[in-house]
Amino acid sequence: MRPFVFLVASVAALGGLLFGYDTGVISGAILFITRDFALSTRLQELTISIVLVGCIVGSAVAGTIADRIGRRITLLTAGVIFALGALGSAFAPTIDVLLAARFVVGIGIGFCSVVAPLYISEVAPADIRGALVSLYQFAITVGILGAFLVDYALAGAGAWRWMLALALIPSLILIGGMLPLPESPRYLFKIGNVAAAEVELRRIAGRDEIGVEETAIVDSLKVHGSGFAAFATPGVRYALVLGIALAMLQQVTGINTVIYYGPHIFQLAGIASNEASILATALVGVVNVLLTLVAIFFVDRIGRKPLLYAGCTGMFLALSALAIAFSQPHLGGSLATIALVSLMVYVGSFAYSLGPILWLLISEIFPLQVRGLGMSICTLSNWVANLVVSLFFLSMVQALGASATFSIYAALCIVTLVVVARGVPETKREILEDISLARGPSLARPEGIP
Ligand code: BGC
Repeated sequence: MRPFVFLVASVAALGGLLFGYDTGVISGAILFITRDFALSTRLQELTISIVLVGCIVGSAVAGTIADRIGRRITLLTAGVIFALGALGSAFAPTIDVLLAARFVVGIGIGFCSVVAPLYISEVAPADIRGALVSLYQFAITVGILGAFLVDYALAGAGAWRWMLALALIPSLILIGGMLPLPESPRYLFKIGNVAAAEVELRRIAGRDEIGVEETAIVDSLKVHGSGFAAFATPGVRYALVLGIALAMLQQVTGINTVIYYGPHIFQLAGIASNEASILATALVGVVNVLLTLVAIFFVDRIGRKPLLYAGCTGMFLALSALAIAFSQPHLGGSLATIALVSLMVYVGSFAYSLGPILWLLISEIFPLQVRGLGMSICTLSNWVANLVVSLFFLSMVQALGASATFSIYAALCIVTLVVVARGVPETKREILEDISLARGPSLARPEGIP
């Protein structure tokens, strides 16, 4: 039965591919859009960031929609939204239409960023759930790298419409792939469709005996209320605060300064030519993809927390090295090498820790009744933090200097380590509902959190 579960997770992970592609592609396209529509700096910034605004809107509503109409239909809807957004962007006759279409694409990304990990987590057997949700992060990194390569390949022709249009292919695969896939058994239990839920649960477990899982799911539905009221329960509220904190820390430790402004950072470090700085960024993108495999292999074996410890420590060391290097006036040519190595270590460390494990944890810590809603709120916080960091990165570098900016991100890695040590439960191999039930309706922090 594992191939079936793997197929289900892979199709849903296409949502991650679109997430990565559509957030990454604009960095190359913007040069030519600016030329064709004679954009002012303000309009350029808007063209880049309007996607993030769409993500915020999309992720805000996606969870409630997924709790109402189901995970599968919401993912299908996301595929359709992506397809419309890609077509709209590719054929946009004016900048206004392009902005509207990019906003629509953002809504699609927002939907996927909530529902793809949610759906994967709910269909995954407990012992490989970490690997399967990490597959979603893997798809994000492949999407980012793919966007980068497409931009590079089409830059010569200045073909920005093609750059944006190519997102149509994965959206159509997502729609076609999701059509025959089953609804999440957990959602089916939630809406009281027990017969269908049992069929899907057996199919996923690969055995007839599903008593343990079923009892956990049914009990969980009895215990927790739905809607915002559920967050009045201490355990559920705790999950929300923890999820929001981790979601924001994933962004404020600086990952997207490298993903969105990689070439810029390399130029600050003294790599003069556009080609070389783009190539250096591509190398970092490859490291991002490859090191995500480490999470896929180890997250269910050694657990979430050890990977988070190792990864956040690596990020801290790499950012500290960058901060020190940028503060030395006489490094000359070696600054570029130090920057390249540090950024590779930084992104690589993120790729097997805070990258995938954020999405995994927020798909695990909420009880079924409010899983969609809880994930929505955390994901929304992730996008808001992303928007703030990417809007202010260049001004921060200008006002404080590169060294101080990277020091701030390094300090926030320490904050992340503290939150992980004190607040994050180890969820490896636990049945989803046992994770939320263990923190029960009335469990306050100390007993509830291993
Ligand atoms: C983050 C994105 C980031 C990507 C990089 C994701 O987990 O949420 O903001 O661009 O990882 O690989």
